Amino acid sequence: MELREAMRTAGAVRGFTDEPVPDEVLEGVLEAARFAPSGGNQQPWTVLVLRDPRLRDLSQLGWREYVAQRDAGVRPFAPGPDGRWQGPAIDLDAAARTPAPSPFVDHLDQVPVLLVLVVRLTALAVTDVELERHSVVGGASIYPFAQNILLAARDVGLGGTLTTFAVRREPRLAELLRIPADHAIAAVLTLGYPTRQPRRLTRRPVAQFAHLDTFDGPAFGTSTT
Ligand SMILES: Cc1cc2nc3c(=O)[nH]c(=O)nc-3n(C[C@H](O)[C@H](O)[C@H](O)COP(=O)(O)O)c2cc1C
Repeated sequence: MELREAMRTAGAVRGFTDEPVPDEVLEGVLEAARFAPSGGNQQPWTVLVLRDPRLRDLSQLGWREYVAQRDAGVRPFAPGPDGRWQGPAIDLDAAARTPAPSPFVDHLDQVPVLLVLVVRLTALAVTDVELERHSVVGGASIYPFAQNILLAARDVGLGGTLTTFAVRREPRLAELLRIPADHAIAAVLTLGYPTRQPRRLTRRPVAQFAHLDTFDGPAFGTSTT
């Protein structure tokens, strides 16, 4: 598949056919993805290829917390204006106890492939580590790899979604999957053959997010759609 076409159409896929993903196809995806960049070329990732239903149950809890915040008009898990987490605006424990049906999360145990992306924290170059705000730079050593997986998957007719709900229960998941203490769970990727392939993604045009020289500088680019 042409690269640009893949980039423009690799939208979140949450519905999958029953067709299994052959191991050699999955290996081919990881083979292509491994050329992702990472700080100092540390390649701090470990991938767990998983079909464990318990992941679904843990993910449901994070999904419920997400939905409850969204329904209360709160941007879920977003830092405040000072760039730091201000504490929950709602009762997250109560939210986790309240069922929130989801055709995606409730069937995570039936997704053909789940990939848990684990990152070795001691290999990260977290250049924003001393800032007062919430740190983001460390993620840059793992999420290009995640996107490479999704693009390589698109290339072979697979679809998927990067999910993070399970990270809300990282200690329990780490115990379940025997992940060492100096590692973190960056994401859980779902993969399979899509029941429906997104073709037109809704994304802001360049002129809405690119500026000349300063944040309040003139828009860079001419496209408005
Ligand atoms: C960092 C990150 C976290 C995400 N977490 C979740 C998630 O936990 N569950 C989920 O269903 N989708 C998740 N997504 C997928 C986004 O919802 C999706 O990329 C976005 O809404 C665009 O959707 P589209 O490709 O269908 O246009 C996540 C995406 C990213 C990049």
